[in-house]
Amino acid sequence: MEQRSKWSSQTGFLFAAIGSAIGLGNIWRFPYLAYEKGGGAFLVAYVVALLTAGIPLMMLEFGLGHSMVGSSVVSFWRVNRRLEWFGWWMPLLVMYGIMLYYMVVLGWCLNYVWFSLDLAWGKDTQSFFLNSFLKVSNNAWDLQDIVGPIFVSTALVWFIIWFICYKEVNKGIERACKVFMPALFALTLILVFWGCSLEGAGRGLTYYLKPDWSKLKDVTLWTSAYGQIFFSLSIGFGIMITYASYLPRKSNLVQNAIITSVADSAYSFTAGLAVFSVLGYLAHSQNLPATNEAFRQVVKEGPILAFVTYPQAISELPAFNRLFGVFFFICLALAGITSAISIVEALTCAIRDKFSLARGKVVSILCATGFLGSLVFACHSGLTWLDIADHFINHYGLVLAGFLECVFIGWILKARTIRKHVNAVSAWRLPEMWDYLVKFVSPAVLGVIYVMDVVNIIRNGYPSGPGKEPYASSWLILIGVNALILSFILATVFTIYPWRRKPELIIHRPEEDKLLT
Ligand code: TRP
Repeated sequence: MEQRSKWSSQTGFLFAAIGSAIGLGNIWRFPYLAYEKGGGAFLVAYVVALLTAGIPLMMLEFGLGHSMVGSSVVSFWRVNRRLEWFGWWMPLLVMYGIMLYYMVVLGWCLNYVWFSLDLAWGKDTQSFFLNSFLKVSNNAWDLQDIVGPIFVSTALVWFIIWFICYKEVNKGIERACKVFMPALFALTLILVFWGCSLEGAGRGLTYYLKPDWSKLKDVTLWTSAYGQIFFSLSIGFGIMITYASYLPRKSNLVQNAIITSVADSAYSFTAGLAVFSVLGYLAHSQNLPATNEAFRQVVKEGPILAFVTYPQAISELPAFNRLFGVFFFICLALAGITSAISIVEALTCAIRDKFSLARGKVVSILCATGFLGSLVFACHSGLTWLDIADHFINHYGLVLAGFLECVFIGWILKARTIRKHVNAVSAWRLPEMWDYLVKFVSPAVLGVIYVMDVVNIIRNGYPSGPGKEPYASSWLILIGVNALILSFILATVFTIYPWRRKPELIIHRPEEDKLLT
């Protein structure tokens, strides 16, 4: 009988789970949110979100995957046959939504490692990024040409992902994460110390961390904190369910969930130190006055932070600029690659469970179709597509997935069932209070965030930032809404398709594995 994939050790599993959680979001989104939403005050909200939603839902996904011993599809099928579609929808939305542009961004990182070698971005880094590199067009339908260097780097990243996922998890993903994650931590620490030793660093850090308690009254502070927790911890993707299903029976799920969540948050915080010390240095070297308004000019998020502001700072560093650039972009690439492999694995596992296909075949098909899909984002209008897809999938897709997951598991399966399983196998116990978090607190918060977000886009369009033109609503509907609908249709097709073997027969753990913790 075919053996189910297995991690070779708990540490291997932890590295893989932490690798999935730590991604681009930690480096280019968290620090900006903290700055924007009241510094230290945001950290308080973030810790509250971590404790009330992040860690409890991580435990839920670990508990579900571990007790059902299956991919998200088999797990939800075992909860209730009518929920199979949900098990498909989560990984499909991420794989054919987020992943397509995430990979193109990782491609950019490789391009920028190369550019770092001779600081190719010159003085005007913004114009270099938008005009010379991306060849940005503001018309969403400029899809005729693919930008050459981006095509090559995107193909390379897809090849790396294929290469890692092609092998069994304990040989591919586990080994890759065991090398990539320590390398990422080491490089990040170097960047933090390097950054903090620069002149003006203190000023940047003050802005990053100085608490503005009045912001705690701002609702968007809370919705951002919860939103960031979900995206960052890879919750509602079906990934953690799959990863936990490869664990042996005796596994300390509670401890692992805490370690994974805390490590991810600690990494975000640390990455913020590296980012803000360098921004402080940039403000200092540009002789900006020491006011918040002046500092605001240098603080950016997302692609602009990484590919415009950072290159500018790198060029101005007093020494070893090129090395700094190489380290920074390699960090981004490592963080992103370990996240990307996790979603390919989640969908691979689901497809193999249902159709009993060989791993190599499934991974090859996924990577090939993924690569083709990525090409849209490598065209001249790629940045517009990226922006719209990113907003819609994160705000309206993932939050909805998290909400539904709480409802399905909390109420249909009953939170108690998972808690009992976790307490039977785990050395640390889940308290009863967890049931209430999963049944009431998390879904309530997610529901509120969702409604507010929808109201906001209907009222203000997107993006609503000052000085920015909202996108045409036809683009939002054609690109953003369609991404959500298409993934749902795809999920339905997969659900309707008959099982190649009876899901009841999908192997459980072949033998009780010996205790690893
Ligand atoms: N948690 C990741 C981050 O913070 C996001 C992520 C996890 C992801 N898995 C993914 C993105 C798979 C795309 C595909 O960036």
